[in-house]
Amino acid sequence: MILRLAGPLLLIGAGKMGGALLEGWLKQGLDPASVFIQDPALSDAMGAFAETHGIVANDAPELPAPPAVILIAVKPDVAEKLLPEVEPMVGEKTVVLSIAAGRKLESLSRYLPENVAVVRAMPNTPASVGQGITVCIANANVTEEQKRECDALLSAVGEVVWVDDEALLDPVTAVSGSGPAYVFLLAECLEQAGIDAGLPEALAKRLARATVAGAGALLEQSDLDVATLRKNVTSPKGTTAAALEVLMDDDILKRLLARAVANAAKRSRELSS
Ligand SMILES: NC(=O)c1ccc[n+]([C@@H]2O[C@H](COP(=O)([O-])OP(=O)(O)OC[C@H]3O[C@@H](n4cnc5c(N)ncnc54)[C@H](OP(=O)(O)O)[C@@H]3O)[C@@H](O)[C@H]2O)c1
Repeated sequence: MILRLAGPLLLIGAGKMGGALLEGWLKQGLDPASVFIQDPALSDAMGAFAETHGIVANDAPELPAPPAVILIAVKPDVAEKLLPEVEPMVGEKTVVLSIAAGRKLESLSRYLPENVAVVRAMPNTPASVGQGITVCIANANVTEEQKRECDALLSAVGEVVWVDDEALLDPVTAVSGSGPAYVFLLAECLEQAGIDAGLPEALAKRLARATVAGAGALLEQSDLDVATLRKNVTSPKGTTAAALEVLMDDDILKRLLARAVANAAKRSRELSS
């Protein structure tokens, strides 16, 4: 289905995440003429990308009509300072969609017109390869149509889940927002363990990377739950069982990850406003 919006889309901040979203939208057929980028320090690569697609990109793009969607994709501290600037751009039917980590619906609405429709979303970096997952929450002013528009925009880079309890955004940040780093750490540890077990460094790196990527792809394509996938590669008394005996001893890994996620959720709560 071709991605269409009821009006122009203003993307404020075309960095890593804003850029990934933009690429996803264009792949889904969104008309580049309906996209406007506001970013005072656009990277050369993003500037060239915008130019190739004929997208207007500068520090104050002129829109032909009030935007259907204003997507705030700047760092959280910048987002806070930017909101008074966004206020005059909000039209009657505009929805403000923010991906700024830790910026709550209430604080996003504070500098915007009364009754403004606001959606807060937490994406993750696999969005840059179209395999992200984004968790969203809408304030009471968001219409079904606006929700559909935000859903379609975020679905261009992966899965989208809506929740109605904003407190969930902290554990969401700790699991899916920060989660890709935990998996990269696992790949680093596997690489080092391979070297320690006698593999040449280049081979250990290659094996660790391909194994984590391949397991991720298998997980993505399979309908089986993760525990079944694990059991399916674990023959009784085999090599995998020997390794899992260590990893699962006294729930060591389970408990370590639970501590890590709890710590990240705590930090997310501390940083939120
Ligand atoms: N990347 C992730 O994995 C991830 C995951 C979840 C949520 N998020 C959220 O997504 C947001 C963007 O993150 P990111 O990683 O994409 O950051 P980023 O790469 O630094 O992108 C932010 C962009 O906004 C630009 N910018 C700075 N001040 C601006 C202003 N006043 N007006 C318009 N644009 C401005 C930046 O330019 P300069 O570089 O010149 O400052 C940069 O191009 C953050 O709030 C973050 O919390 C990111």
